Amino acid sequence: MSDSIESRLKEERRFPPSAEFSKGARVQSHAAYTSMYELSLSDPETFWREETGDLVFRTPWKKVSEWALPHAKFFVGATLNITESCLDRHLGTSARTRAAIVWEGEPGDVRTLTYFELHREVVRLSAALTDLGVKPGDRVAIYMGMVPETAVAMLACARIGATHSVIFGGFSSDALRERINDCGAKVLLTQDGAWRRGNVVPLKKMADEALEKTPSIEKAVVLRRIGQEKCPVEMKQGRDVWWDELVTRTPSENALGLAKKPAAFDAEHPLFILYTSGSTGKPKGVLHTTAGYLVGAHVTTKYVFDLRESDLYWCTADVGWVTGHSYIVYGPLSCGASCMMYEGAPNAPDWGRFWNIIEKHGVTILYTAPTAIRAFIRAGDQWPAKADLSSLRLLGSVGEPINPEAWTWYHRVVGGGRCPIVDTWWQTETGSIMLTTLPGACYSKPGSTGLPLFGVDIEVVKDRGDPCKANEGGKLVIQRPWPSMARTLYNDDARFKDAYWSQMPGVYFTGDGARRDEDGYFWVVGRIDDVLNVAGHRIGTAEIESALVSHPAVAEAAAVGRPDDLKGQALVVFVTLKQGQDPKDLKSKLAEHIDKEIGKFARPDAIRFTDSLPKTRSGKIMRRLLKEVASGAETKGDTSTLEDLSVLAKLRTDEE
Ligand code: PRX
Repeated sequence: MSDSIESRLKEERRFPPSAEFSKGARVQSHAAYTSMYELSLSDPETFWREETGDLVFRTPWKKVSEWALPHAKFFVGATLNITESCLDRHLGTSARTRAAIVWEGEPGDVRTLTYFELHREVVRLSAALTDLGVKPGDRVAIYMGMVPETAVAMLACARIGATHSVIFGGFSSDALRERINDCGAKVLLTQDGAWRRGNVVPLKKMADEALEKTPSIEKAVVLRRIGQEKCPVEMKQGRDVWWDELVTRTPSENALGLAKKPAAFDAEHPLFILYTSGSTGKPKGVLHTTAGYLVGAHVTTKYVFDLRESDLYWCTADVGWVTGHSYIVYGPLSCGASCMMYEGAPNAPDWGRFWNIIEKHGVTILYTAPTAIRAFIRAGDQWPAKADLSSLRLLGSVGEPINPEAWTWYHRVVGGGRCPIVDTWWQTETGSIMLTTLPGACYSKPGSTGLPLFGVDIEVVKDRGDPCKANEGGKLVIQRPWPSMARTLYNDDARFKDAYWSQMPGVYFTGDGARRDEDGYFWVVGRIDDVLNVAGHRIGTAEIESALVSHPAVAEAAAVGRPDDLKGQALVVFVTLKQGQDPKDLKSKLAEHIDKEIGKFARPDAIRFTDSLPKTRSGKIMRRLLKEVASGAETKGDTSTLEDLSVLAKLRTDEE
């Protein structure tokens, strides 16, 4: 990865879209992009009036925004039901019978839901949820895999004004419980199990463990995905109800009425809470509200993916992360797009799976992550070569910096040299894409995430907030609120202020380091806070550390990232054990402990035992030094504050 940073610094190639691509695009030139961008900042009222025209508001907005930082409101005065923009508005158009979701299960089963069918499923589930007692403002947890019902669940909650919190299916029962209790969810929607690399992930069983100590949960709704034979589940009397039985019950008149003609909610009505990692052990419940989030997701999907009626668009993210929320569910559906959705792993049954899906269904737009691209490179060109990928016309990348080697491979091997690549930078907190290159308008540079999108006033600054010069590294900040900005952290507004708005007065600090080149293109280096990005998963070092020290054998722990060719960053932990503990066998025990506390995806890549950790005289762990040790780099910089230099020497000679 250090190689790739080097190669990114040297990268000078430019890839303009073909004349043919530009001719058919919504924004066809750099000048057109610039004038739209400038208008979005100089006259947001006019810009957003135009851009919100195809969304459904019951009461039109009166004022584009109002803010008293760190709080902001957008589309003030509007009322809406977000699902009318995503579903109902398409029923009177040709989209009615168009596929909304083309789904392929890991075993190869295929299902298609038209907009009409998706709407119907959502209406039925929202009526059922109302009859279960769910009311506007109640929280509903969703712990599911990649099945169409997960989208149905999110939309059904939104339709009745309940705030959903999707918890990624890779999280353990402990992590699920912690999130359910933090948001006080009343109902949990889950499924018996999910297919993953030929195995069944027993979601309901894990949910049962979580629900042992979740006083707020009244009901659990269980979708049958796998079936009793391969995935037996126990249904708890009075609490658990099968999804199919629930939605086929005759709903009450009131619930059906509300589901068919849903209530309109205020623009700032809470839409969802999504937990993500920060620099302390406790996950952050990022809260997004309705109108601003919808507008952000809608407008970015429309322009960045430049969707047409003939497209089959595929975002390979999991719906449990923000990319799935904005670019599998709300953004594409609000555009009336046809979306591919795939349940399983990219290498099930082999590394040809993605390419088969593209060929079989005729996918035209692929949006995936650099870590997946690097895994495909490693698996070999023979896999994509076997499939006909000529349906593809646009490629996207998200989640971490893409190294130019991976970019070039993606462009050449997957895109056949003809598809523009949009590298999109954004975060759970930003709600929608902030930086990219509009595909018909702007050339891309491999490894650069491009230019700001509409309404995004973004800059690279020094510690005090002064702008950096061209190519000078600094902190990436956003200098005014934008529509899809997170409104707060659920139940922790003080942390919202502190984590994002306290570094520099009046600006949002992203946690990322970046530089901006002489053409105005941004190059994001990665997190500069205590957050790691391991294979596209955002992992807080403090979360890992607090999970480790909760193990009875552990005295102290420090987690750091090490550059990794495949994952971007690998997770290395340094552990000191309590007196009398034997490190023998503890490596696997600690790995299992992380599986239990957080989930398998957060397993450390290396666990190193040590007698002590390098600390300053005031007792702070010197992570910078540990990072260098973990990556095998020479110690640079200052070690004068290190309390005991021999600790460092010993760490270096310790084996992994
Ligand atoms: O460090 C940046 C990195 O991912 C972080 C956000 O993670 P999360 O909230 O999980 O959202 C991921 C999907 C939007 C950012 O702070 N990141 C995301 N996209 C890129 C990126 N880094 C470089 N280039 C990107 N395109």
